[in-house]
Amino acid sequence: MSHKIAVMAGDGIGTEVMPEGIRVLEATAERFGIALDFTHFDFASCDYYLEHGRMLPEDWRETLEPFDALFYGAVGWPEKVPDHISLWGSLLQFRRVFDQYINLRPCRSMPGIRSPLAGRAPGDIDFYVVRENTEGEYSSIGGKMFEGTDREVVVQETVMTRTGVDRVLKYAFELAAKRPRRKLTSATKSNGISITMPYWDERVQAMAEGYPDVTVDKFHIDILTANFVLHPDWFDVVVGSNLFGDILSDLGPACTGTIGVAPSANINPEGRFPSLFEPVHGSAPDIAGKGIANPIGQIWSGAMMLDHLGHEDAGKAIVDAIEAVLARGDETILTPDLQGRGTTGDLGRAIAEHVAAG
Ligand code: NAI
Ligand code: MG
Repeated sequence: MSHKIAVMAGDGIGTEVMPEGIRVLEATAERFGIALDFTHFDFASCDYYLEHGRMLPEDWRETLEPFDALFYGAVGWPEKVPDHISLWGSLLQFRRVFDQYINLRPCRSMPGIRSPLAGRAPGDIDFYVVRENTEGEYSSIGGKMFEGTDREVVVQETVMTRTGVDRVLKYAFELAAKRPRRKLTSATKSNGISITMPYWDERVQAMAEGYPDVTVDKFHIDILTANFVLHPDWFDVVVGSNLFGDILSDLGPACTGTIGVAPSANINPEGRFPSLFEPVHGSAPDIAGKGIANPIGQIWSGAMMLDHLGHEDAGKAIVDAIEAVLARGDETILTPDLQGRGTTGDLGRAIAEHVAAG
């Protein structure tokens, strides 16, 4: 049985790192006897918008829904299309309509990538951030009144549903239970946000009863961000609401080094809809067209996609290959953000060859 993958490279360096992501997936599929069937789409890009006046075709939902997974590059070209149009018109549609309620980001220090935190070596930082991706602080309930007068007032409500909170917590607990350290940290702010955050804490406590092997702790978001920097080795699985998770899922990868290597997944765990896998970075207009973008974020996202499709050994082989190639430290193949002089293709090929060689 083959896995049907919809490929959307998007804009800028998205179009440069995507071929390397595919190259490594093809090498991995060959080695592990997995059948991957890629279909490429030109929508969800600013060029498509300039031609059609919209980011996605009208029937995008029917087109993409039958796929097993969506493999995405990066979207955005602010000189041509304002960011709120390009992002809301594509990526955020996928997350909402396909109910990708988990945003998952590994934060892992890798060999050859200097952490901006002093004295941290490869392997010291190894945790996941699990972000709630559909509700919470990012709600559309609210409004504006008395606009333009002295009484002008704006309100935006945080929405937490029991279903929404419990399902993200369940995912995070399941993930923690599978990892060797079996530790879960919850991001809260129940000392200041006195209704929704105590509710979040209450649901964490209730969920914890079902996972007696998982050690649970919680921090208020302010000290938690400080601890990401001061004690990143404390963390194993960190779960947060939409806003807190958003902040932590940028801070976590930043603590490990270059943004070019960080991957992410937007997951619908039940598989009712396709999940989406993409690098954390954007389209990087400043380096686009030069062939020097680091393809590892895209390649690692491909590894997360294979995990999700049930091929965990194949996903691990890709991450191992990334680590092995980084550890080799060959300046002729590493991209400039890794202090090398290689091209996007050089680095992608080296990782693909490593996977193929087993
Ligand atoms: P960015 O991530 O595109 O770039 C930030 C900096 O990191 C730049 O200096 C860039 O050269 C560097 N960089 C990023 N990826 C790299 C890689 N693979 N290799 C080497 N260096 C890399 O973020 P920025 O500049 O804020 O946004 C540019 C566009 O991308 C905007 O339109 C923004 O909305 C969009 N964006 C899209 C995202 C997505 O598709 N999920 C995520 C973040 C931004
Ligand atoms: Mg963010």
